[in-house]
Amino acid sequence: MSTFAILLAGGAGERFGRALPKQFSDLSGRSLLAICLERFQRHPGIDGIILVCPAAQLALAGEIAAAGLCTKLKTILAGGKTRQESSAIGVAAVPPGTRNVLIHDVARALVGADVIDRVLAALADSAAVMAVLPETDTVVRVDEDAAVTAVLDRAKLRRVQTPQGFRLEVIGQAHASARAEGFGNAGDDCSLVLRYQLAPVATVAGDPGNIKITYSQDVAIAEALLRDA
Ligand code: CTP
Ligand code: MG
Repeated sequence: MSTFAILLAGGAGERFGRALPKQFSDLSGRSLLAICLERFQRHPGIDGIILVCPAAQLALAGEIAAAGLCTKLKTILAGGKTRQESSAIGVAAVPPGTRNVLIHDVARALVGADVIDRVLAALADSAAVMAVLPETDTVVRVDEDAAVTAVLDRAKLRRVQTPQGFRLEVIGQAHASARAEGFGNAGDDCSLVLRYQLAPVATVAGDPGNIKITYSQDVAIAEALLRDA
């Protein structure tokens, strides 16, 4: 009944706009990667961690993991050109016989134990699960001229976070099907499970504090969340 976490830190952080990818930037003196690794290291439901990093920062990531005494970390791998590729590389490294896989964006370094708990609990009877938040804005669809064509029913909309959780065979098949089709644009992993109709995708409550650090302005928000935690 083992559970592996794949931590995705293979991006370049282009929108963040620094030379070094954002996962190596500090929040209140510690890097996003150090904070995120510690949260999965500490969680009793996680047995092993696979970290995916840019090839150029493999050594730096290794130093951060060693400084954090991350004993659950099994391997650090070079990522791919897209998030989907990096995720596929991580999934391929999960030991056969592992039951559950959690896939998480290191850009959401502030993930709390509660969200991880809820995703793991849902995996007792679901093969795929995502953490979500209710949509609070009204969302519209527009045409090519940016004119509104529909106002979507907010009650049926959710904002998607990570971690997302899977049975290993389901996420393995999802990435195999994507490879076979030549599809490489998925922004998250549950969307592949849906695309190939491999399993129903359940939702659990995410956490408003589990923000994704995308722009440099997000650092101040994340530091405020860290202070209040
Ligand atoms: N990611 C990855 N491999 C890639 C691209 C993204 O592992 N080739 C990871 C990022 O490191 C991040 C998560 O996927 O933790 C979500 O991606 P995003 O927030 O878009 O990060 P970046 O791709 O690094 O940022 P940007 O899109 O601004 O370049
Ligand atoms: Mg990106």
